[in-house]
Amino acid sequence: MGQPLVVRDVETLREKLAAARERGLRVGLVPTMGALHDGHLALVREARRRAQLVVVTIFVNPTQFGPNEDFTRYPRTLEADVARCAGEGVDLIFAPSDPSVLYPPGEETRLRVSTTSQHLEGAFRPTHFEGVATICAKLFLVAGPSVAVFGRKDYQQLRVVSRMARDLFLPVEIVPCPTQREADGLARSSRNVYLSADDRAKARAIPTGLAAAVRAFEAGERHVDALLARVRAPIEAVATSIDYVALANADSVVPFPAGSMIDDRAVLAVAVRFGSTRLIDNVVLGEERGPADVVAG
Ligand code: PAF
Repeated sequence: MGQPLVVRDVETLREKLAAARERGLRVGLVPTMGALHDGHLALVREARRRAQLVVVTIFVNPTQFGPNEDFTRYPRTLEADVARCAGEGVDLIFAPSDPSVLYPPGEETRLRVSTTSQHLEGAFRPTHFEGVATICAKLFLVAGPSVAVFGRKDYQQLRVVSRMARDLFLPVEIVPCPTQREADGLARSSRNVYLSADDRAKARAIPTGLAAAVRAFEAGERHVDALLARVRAPIEAVATSIDYVALANADSVVPFPAGSMIDDRAVLAVAVRFGSTRLIDNVVLGEERGPADVVAG
């Protein structure tokens, strides 16, 4: 397979993709922050199924990190990422040479997606989704994709971006891709590289807890507290701390109150710390799961 074209500025990106669209090619976009793993490659394959020209963006977006988060230490591995994209036949990589390419001096516009951003991740990372919605809108506007593919591991992000694209009438289809998991069930994430061997072993409690709740749900359990208890038990035994274990409406991502019963479809989401590493994961209850999205027990 050929090498992808690596573009570092907005003008060249616009020019190349306008030319492709004029030739009648559908553009498929895979937004990433790099440190590409097999989960990202599944997004690339999904984009390839739906578009003739596949663009991967690699940009560690400063506006989605809070002041005490891992922006500076986030893994930056451009050379390896380009090689992985080449192996998947990616046509073009947009890797801005500097944050000012997408945030020029003096820019000040931010997008806020109200309800969907408010809870779960939003409660712990108050400016995170403003940064995500803003960068995704910028990427959609400069690349003009017909489809953009997002992983379901970042479930709330998927909902926020879908809502934003719909509310702004952006002509892009947001395509969800199942969470990719390691053999023991841990969701693939660029942040897994931060885990010590001991914490990596403990992190298996996340898929174990989610799987226990899935089994209870499938056996008819609908009480929020009972389902959450199934998830919490194995995680509490080993985690450094838990930010949240929540059951929320699968569309609005608004949590069901304690003591209530859930609908037939709900997202069960967790954010857990092992050492200084924060991991998120989720499963949608009441939904058919494909083989890649089955949480190991
Ligand atoms: O999921 C990510 O890697 C990022 O949040 C995204 C969508 C690329 C926006 O920076």
